[in-house]
Amino acid sequence: YDIVPITPKDSEKVLEHLRKFFFLEEPLNINIKLLGENGDERCPELESYCVGTIPEGLSLMAVSRTGKVIGVSLNGSHEPGHLDEMQSNADNCPNLRFRKILQLLVAVERGSDVFTKFPDVDKLVEVRIISVDSALRGRGIAKALLEKSRELAKQKGYPLFRVDCTSNFSARAVARLGLECVYELRYEDYCKNGQPVFQPALPHTEVKSYVQRLQV
Ligand code: ACO
Repeated sequence: YDIVPITPKDSEKVLEHLRKFFFLEEPLNINIKLLGENGDERCPELESYCVGTIPEGLSLMAVSRTGKVIGVSLNGSHEPGHLDEMQSNADNCPNLRFRKILQLLVAVERGSDVFTKFPDVDKLVEVRIISVDSALRGRGIAKALLEKSRELAKQKGYPLFRVDCTSNFSARAVARLGLECVYELRYEDYCKNGQPVFQPALPHTEVKSYVQRLQV
């Protein structure tokens, strides 16, 4: 397979991949049944979130010899000072299931507090979505996508690379690339009205935020 940049004209085939895999199989999406009881609903809010990231020109896909999208890393840039905006976007998301996920991501953003930990950093690249075809997992495709994404971020002059991992599998791939875990939130400790908001299946027990500096 090859790893190539995603351009806006690839949006539909990237979405087709994500609808089949990430939307149905990411541990929190499974847990909250993001696509409904039968997995056949759409989540336009998540689709816009994904497609909106592509024009930033930081995303990559793995494409098989036959031209099939077998993996996707949707990456975007992020700067300090957007917490209030993120919070209000999350709180106003009309899809109640996706709202829960956006609210968790805001909590992780607050908790990880990367711009305070790295005061000299004024922008970073974050991996927002990483997804591999379920028939091809465990062969290092995610690791390869992450390595190339990090390389691209570095080439574009970003000083920091970040991945918030909701899945234990993505956390393992990211840790192996040498990123440092700067924040960890156990799902059993993330509660609303005394109840955990998410109870994903094992081994997905926490969300972990990883970062790495890209230049000295
Ligand atoms: N069971 C056990 N371990 C697994 C499995 C599995 N089904 N799949 C992957 N792993 C392990 C690998 O062995 C490896 O761990 P190791 O380094 O300790 O050996 C690690 O997970 C990652 O290996 P890769 O082969 O590089 O990853 P892969 O190409 O399989 O893709 C991914 C990993 C993207 C998480 C894939 O499982 C997936 O698409 N899952 C559904 C979507 C999802 O959860 N995405 C991540 C959410 S977080 C985010 O998007 C930023």
